[in-house]
Amino acid sequence: MKIVVTGSIAYDYLMSFPGKFTDSLVADQLHTVSLSFLVDSLNRQRGGTAPNIAYTLALLGGRPCVMATAGQDFGDYRTWLESHGVDTSAIVEIENDFCASFFVNTDQAQNQIASFYTGAMAHAARLSFAKYAADADLAVISPNAPDAMGQYAAECRALGIPYIYDPSQQAARFTGEELLHGLNGAHMLTVNEYEHKLIQDKTGLSEDQILQRVGSLLVTLASEGARLIINGDEIRIPSVPPHSIIDPTGAGDAFRAGLMRGMQLGLPWEIAGRMGALAATYVLEQMGPQNHHYSLQEFVARYRQHFDDDGALDVLIT
Ligand SMILES: Nc1ncnc2c1ncn2[C@@H]1O[C@H](COP(=O)(O)OP(=O)(O)OP(=O)(O)O)[C@@H](O)[C@H]1O
Ligand SMILES: [Mg+2]
Repeated sequence: MKIVVTGSIAYDYLMSFPGKFTDSLVADQLHTVSLSFLVDSLNRQRGGTAPNIAYTLALLGGRPCVMATAGQDFGDYRTWLESHGVDTSAIVEIENDFCASFFVNTDQAQNQIASFYTGAMAHAARLSFAKYAADADLAVISPNAPDAMGQYAAECRALGIPYIYDPSQQAARFTGEELLHGLNGAHMLTVNEYEHKLIQDKTGLSEDQILQRVGSLLVTLASEGARLIINGDEIRIPSVPPHSIIDPTGAGDAFRAGLMRGMQLGLPWEIAGRMGALAATYVLEQMGPQNHHYSLQEFVARYRQHFDDDGALDVLIT
């Protein structure tokens, strides 16, 4: 079963400023701002929702394919993804542009000044499943250029490719109509609690009405785990306690990947969901969305410290 993951490809540039931004702001001079902050650390993280999801899927042996646009600065990122088992053949590099880039400067009071540059991601609608991934058995539509997300959903429906609609951060900017266009006919809708509420508000649909339009629903609940609603039945998925929480970025992406790996292997939903919860916990324990690492043996052993699988996870390690 071939899983094709679409979404942003980005670098996160994280800076820390050893002072307070507010000390540099002159209250009566705010009509002309020209500020420079001398930062003492700069950390570049590989990110973007498509590689985040694909990276965990690959760790779990899923051999995912990413379909997305990247920039001229993608070279070593591609090599790194390939070396971890992600198929990057449907990642198209856009000449003379950079990968989407998130620049965030954090001061000692945890104030942040950030900018997000869309870069090559803005060209994502140039790609199509028909051209790059017609053999997909399951697609993921995760945050990306808004026009591309709508187009991919329409194309998956037309080609009969089941798709997981994962609007995540983009749920905040979409209108109710755009959200409906994306979720109508989706194999699964995935959201966190906040996005779930936002989608209900924007579309005017109740959860039951949403369930009439999608095959299934995943609602992640942070430390409370998740709810999975399949064929009208609700399955509660507990979370897996982290050894420590270093950085929550990307936990939601990893949850989706663990769940999908379970789906790909045809495992029961209770198990697939718990694989998602464990995959998410590994991300909480590291800085950045792709700095976790484990062998399949380690993953299965940790799963079995918390849950029973009646040997079902042997398929991962044999
Ligand atoms: N404090 C926590 N303890 C244990 N597990 C957690 C915790 N926070 C998050 N998780 C795990 O991560 C999953 C996703 O978390 P959450 O619902 O916060 O998603 P999100 O807000 O979409 O995250 P993201 O920052 O990746 O977008 C949860 O379902 C849970 O399995
Ligand atoms: Mg999220």
